[in-house]
Formats: sequence, C-alpha cells, structure tokens
Amino acid sequence: MKDKPIGIFDSGVGGLTVLREVEKLLPFEDIVYFGDTARVPYGSKSKSTIIKFSRESAGFLKRKRVKMIVAACNTSSALALEDLKKSFNIPVLGVIEAGVIRAVAVTRKKRIAVIGTKSTIKSNSYQKLIAKKNKSIKVYSKSCPLFVPLVEEGVLNGRIVKEAMKMYLRSLNDKDIDVIILGCTHYPLLKHQISSYLKGVVVIDSAKEVAGYARSILKSKNLLSPKSRKPKVEFYLSDEPKEFVRLAKLFLGRKIPNPKI
Ligand code: DGL
Repeated sequence: MKDKPIGIFDSGVGGLTVLREVEKLLPFEDIVYFGDTARVPYGSKSKSTIIKFSRESAGFLKRKRVKMIVAACNTSSALALEDLKKSFNIPVLGVIEAGVIRAVAVTRKKRIAVIGTKSTIKSNSYQKLIAKKNKSIKVYSKSCPLFVPLVEEGVLNGRIVKEAMKMYLRSLNDKDIDVIILGCTHYPLLKHQISSYLKGVVVIDSAKEVAGYARSILKSKNLLSPKSRKPKVEFYLSDEPKEFVRLAKLFLGRKIPNPKI
C-alpha cells in the first residue's frame, strides 16, 4: 500500500496548486491527478451535481488504486466531502479543514474572512467548521467569481485585477479581520495581490495547508512511501488536454507530461 500513489482531483487545472504543494512536501510520492476539464467549473453548480461529479472523479482515482484521495477542489470539499468519505474505504481529504485549522490557530482578533466560488460560499461549510472549532470567531465570506477566469487568462496583475480586488474585497476592509482564507484552488496565484490589497491580514493558502495535512495522515497510518525514489506523476483529464497543458505551465512553472483522456 505504501508505494501506491496519492490521488488528487479537481474540476480542472486549479488543483495543480495543491499538487505543487504535495510535491514539495512529499517528494517521494507517486501522484495521479484527475482534472474534470469537460465539466469545469464546479463553482457555480448545484450541490447534487457537485456530489455526482466529485463521486465520479474520486471513483476514477480509486480505480487507479490510489492510497489516499485529495479533493483539491474547494467546491467539492465544501459540498461533497462527507459523501466521498462514506463512499470510499481509503482516506479522503478535503482542502477546507486544513485551512480552517490554521486560520483558527492564527487569528487574534477572532475575525476571519473566507473567499471562494459561489457554491462554496453558499454552502456555509467554512462558517460551520470554524464555529465547530471556536464559536466566538466571526466569519465574513465573499464569493469572487471573476478570480477564476482571470487566473485562467493568465491575468495575475494590472488594472483589471486591481479593480476586481476592489470590487470583491472592499467590503472586508472595515470588518477588522486579521486572517483571510483562500477558499478556491485558483486564488493562491493571486495571493500577492490579495495581500497587498488587505494590508496586514494573514493570507491562508489552503493548498499549502492540505499538503501538510496529507503528510500527517499518511504518516499516522504508516503509508508514507519509501524515501529516495523517483516519483511518477500522471495526469488524466475528461477533455482534450491543450488548454490544460498551457495552464499547467502557469500553475506549476514547468512542462508536464502529456495528460491522458
Ligand atoms: N476548483 C474550483 C474550486 O476550488 C474552482 C473552479 C471551479 O469553479 O470549478 O472551488
């Protein structure tokens, strides 16, 4: 079991922010990545559709005999994680809990903001989990639907990004928050801009947090792969790979081997 791959799925290319962090923290692990590029975006879809798509994406990974499934997609994590945990008999991790644990540990003012897709924000998953950890924390949430297409267009700074920051984040300025959780796969690519718009606010990158979480679970279950091996990373998609390959370069800073359909 130890030398089986870690499975990571996302609605598309965004989950590569999670893959990047998993590669950094767990450099000897094989990874199978599945991007549901034929059906992206998940972030504006209904709960039942998100559960159905997430189950199918995770099922694909299970058939690849992975030892753990990471739902890199925040929208899947927000709406389908409970269902996935029940459906599969291997560890299934979402990106929400890891980010929440860090945010709750870091906030002094007990005022946290969460940004994500429309479906993630509407689900209230972050609020519920934060309240479970500490009832006295106030949570402000905001969906930022334009951030995903901006990132996918490679528009990471400049006038349009500044305007988008203003449009979505202005309302958080007078809430006296000291922590913001990036509750979407794509937002780590805008981290700099978000940081400089919300000066002095700690920015929590869920992708980074979930990599640490995955490591601790593998360790506790004695499932870490043997060290000093050259890992194999495979990419599978549900649609043609051209756009994915282009964006992968932006997300990972390197060329990836040809994804399979
Ligand atoms: N991966 C999605 C998320 O993290 C963003 C893209 C989409 O809407 O599918 O919520």
